[in-house]
Amino acid sequence: MAAGRFITFEGGEGSGKSTQARRLAERLREVGIDVLLTREPGGSPFAEQIRGLLLGGTLAPHPPIAEALLFFAARADHLETTIRPALAAGRWVICDRFADSTRAYQGAAGGVPAQSLDMLEQLVIGTSGPDATFILDIDARTGLARATRRREAIEGTEIDPFESRALAFHERLRQGYLAIAAAEPRRCVLVDASSGVEPIAKGIWQTVSQRFAGDIR
Ligand SMILES: Nc1ncnc2c1ncn2[C@@H]1O[C@H](COP(=O)(O)OP(=O)(O)OP(=O)(O)O)[C@@H](O)[C@H]1O
Ligand SMILES: [Mg+2]
Repeated sequence: MAAGRFITFEGGEGSGKSTQARRLAERLREVGIDVLLTREPGGSPFAEQIRGLLLGGTLAPHPPIAEALLFFAARADHLETTIRPALAAGRWVICDRFADSTRAYQGAAGGVPAQSLDMLEQLVIGTSGPDATFILDIDARTGLARATRRREAIEGTEIDPFESRALAFHERLRQGYLAIAAAEPRRCVLVDASSGVEPIAKGIWQTVSQRFAGDIR
């Protein structure tokens, strides 16, 4: 049996990752592909516990390297218990955030050196990295406004500690993602996320159906 494909969605707050990841999963299911939709941090019971630590917002600020290690600890479990078994069974895996988020948040925006993150990626991910990554690019202010509207629409949803950081942090984050897209053009597809949900979903589907034409009937 052929191994499945691994596709990740990346981008700043409110850029539309969860919306587009869901849309792509639905579209692939329509053509008969078995899809696992998952997310980071989280995606396995232990990794979801670590997610609680990272996004709970109750801890004092901690060094970005400590965050990076926790994200990678969660990622190691997610890969081992969820992602690799699904791919080996021929399922496609769509992940809402993955290692590029650590590069952008703890690396570009947080100051953890790229070489340290390279080492962690080598150690934890090895050759199990994504076949394709959609980086949703949007002006930081617009993305944050979308995220705020969504939170206000869902009663009782608390602002998360990353979302509440200064605009300058989010600008660095965006530049970090642009640098990743430029450095890895074969894997990464930069998507202008400022237009509507439909045209963005259509563009992403076009790319997926071309890139993986041999896997999609
Ligand atoms: N292209 C779009 N145009 C306008 N609004 C959008 C678009 N895509 C998503 N939204 C809306 O913006 C909000 C944020 O979208 P979504 O949750 O998909 O973003 P996200 O990148 O997953 O955010 P987060 O980083 O907070 O998880 C949602 O309310 C969603 O309905
Ligand atoms: Mg989301």
